[in-house]
Amino acid sequence: MKIGVFDSGIGGLTVVKSLLEHQLFEEIIYFGDTARVPYGSKDKTTIIRYAIEAVEFFKNFDIDLMIVACNTVSAHALDEMREVSTYPIIGVVEAGVLATANALEDKNSNILILGTKATINSKAYEIGLTKLKFKNFHAKATGLFVPFVEDEIYSGDILEATFRHYFSDSKTPDAIILGCTHFPLISDALKNYFSKETILIHSGDAIVEYLELNFEFSKKYPQPKLDFFASEDPEALRAVGKKWLNLEEDK
Ligand code: DGL
Repeated sequence: MKIGVFDSGIGGLTVVKSLLEHQLFEEIIYFGDTARVPYGSKDKTTIIRYAIEAVEFFKNFDIDLMIVACNTVSAHALDEMREVSTYPIIGVVEAGVLATANALEDKNSNILILGTKATINSKAYEIGLTKLKFKNFHAKATGLFVPFVEDEIYSGDILEATFRHYFSDSKTPDAIILGCTHFPLISDALKNYFSKETILIHSGDAIVEYLELNFEFSKKYPQPKLDFFASEDPEALRAVGKKWLNLEEDK
């Protein structure tokens, strides 16, 4: 299978990392809309417009499947994207809800949902979790984590001060949904702040779980063909990709 991975910027590379670790695909084409990131502070109409342009972009590549690696887009624009698409599209929110349900036996588990302002305003995770009979959750827009991660701040005083700012009224959750593709990079810091026992739901691992449940994979691809596109400064995307994905020098 040849797949397209779409994100508002670099965050979706954390999803690509999970896809590469599981060696599911022969070819992966990544598009990050780096010129217009962040999407998380934009309104629904704008997010839909940008997302539809991404569907058009991938029509040039004859892909078999598109993974929307951005929670913000998955929460707001999946239906509209599917209406104009010629290939199937799956998103990280549905996968994240299912991964949460699979990780927690007790429907009374205390779940903390983190995401951008747009993702949290959509209530997409709450709606999905309510359908699966979970009732004990609260959601928090933690948009400041996005620029921190982009600045490679994954630990330290400034991040801890931000945790205190966002979470002073939060009790230690049983699970945290990392409802933004940047947030896996601060997983360790979140576990240090809350508890080592807290389960973290990662969009990349969730989408792999979802794919393995819904598609048949008969072969592994340890050396997939990778292509990266960015709407602005592709060199910056390449630099982050190399670091996060441990790519060789010539990639
Ligand atoms: N990738 C986005 C998400 O997962 C975060 C960055 C943005 O705001 O565009 O929600």
